[in-house]
Amino acid sequence: MALDAETRSQLIETVRRFVRERCVPFERQVADDDRVPDAIVAEMRSLGLFGLSIPVEYGGLGLGMEEEVLVALELGGTSPAFRSVIGTNVGIGSQGVVMFGTDAQKAEWLPKLASGAIVASFALTEPGAGSDAASLKTSAIHQGDHYLVNGTKRFITNANRAGMFTLMARSDATKKGASGVSAFIVPADLEGVSVGPPEKKMGQQGAHICDVHFDDVRVPDHLRLGREGEGFKLAMQVLDRGRLHISGVCVGVAERLIRDCVAYAREREQFGQKIGEFQLIQAMLADSKTEAYAARCMVMDAAKKRDEGGNVTMEAACAKYFASEMVGRVADRAVQIFGGAGYVADYGIERFYRDVRTFRIYEGTSQIQQLVIARNLLRGEG
Ligand code: CAA
Repeated sequence: MALDAETRSQLIETVRRFVRERCVPFERQVADDDRVPDAIVAEMRSLGLFGLSIPVEYGGLGLGMEEEVLVALELGGTSPAFRSVIGTNVGIGSQGVVMFGTDAQKAEWLPKLASGAIVASFALTEPGAGSDAASLKTSAIHQGDHYLVNGTKRFITNANRAGMFTLMARSDATKKGASGVSAFIVPADLEGVSVGPPEKKMGQQGAHICDVHFDDVRVPDHLRLGREGEGFKLAMQVLDRGRLHISGVCVGVAERLIRDCVAYAREREQFGQKIGEFQLIQAMLADSKTEAYAARCMVMDAAKKRDEGGNVTMEAACAKYFASEMVGRVADRAVQIFGGAGYVADYGIERFYRDVRTFRIYEGTSQIQQLVIARNLLRGEG
């Protein structure tokens, strides 16, 4: 644990207040404008949110996994688009540098990521390589003192704001699978890097995903992360961690929806009484609370285990699988409890219903989590 108990509870309280007072009032505006206001992004910078997971010596808060999950739980108290602003700097965009970077790479990149001066994106997925990430085709051919990178990455979160990409590319064309992949830091302003327009999505308006094209991009040798051929493992380790963070967000969103449902059930009357007095409504509230609590326990347990130095590949997959499916069920019940009001835009419930759908897809689908869990079990781990 990086923080003493008092500092930790102050941080959590500050983030909670920021979410409830500054983000929640802007939820509808963010969805309508497809943009988080600059003033809120600036507040995120001054609160240090971009640097939650980056070591203190590089300007971050240096939180442990359990602490980061506690913050993620709070950030889940509002539309997921707000969290997405800082999500890639805290997680998949920066952690390759934190885990595998040289001292020089860390000194150059981490302070800028921690302060939010630049945004990092994680470039793994391709048009032909989604769940089967090891089949990626983007090439990085070594030539003299650099790698020549060519290829297209797809659905890359925050690509349109990125100052750097953690890129996975095939540096050994003779190897088809994971072992031919290396990882690189690619500054977004290198010649040959271009970003497509944001995709139109089902939900999470305000959070953007784009194609990124690499056309004869010369990436200097000193920007390779880790050893040649280590890029796939780097990506998997970064995702193990990211999956815990996402699980925390899922629980946070579920708890927010439960609060909204309880408030509505206390106030809305039908058949001459508050709907919260009907046992069929109570059953839905109880199911949502039970599942959210189970997911909270699971993600906290896995995060603690990671802080103790354990391998949590399987536990992170369990948490991501359960928490993302759970929040889908909670959002579905929320629509049901709100009834017609849940289906129209004014109450924001249908927006959350759409927003949470991607939690079951990005950073590894539910089916990939099942595969990871089963493979680890069959290998005799856990
Ligand atoms: N930690 C360390 N090493 C790992 C690892 C982990 N968690 N998982 C696998 N590896 C290693 C294996 O040990 C193996 O090493 P060896 O060759 O030395 O034995 C190597 O990596 C290859 O592993 P597998 O044989 O298991 O690889 P695979 O091709 O069968 O695929 C997979 C494994 C689990 C299916 C993986 O491809 C996967 O997780 N796919 C999902 C990809 C994913 O999550 N994409 C999300 C993209 S990011 C995003 O969504 C965010 C955004 O911006 C939108």
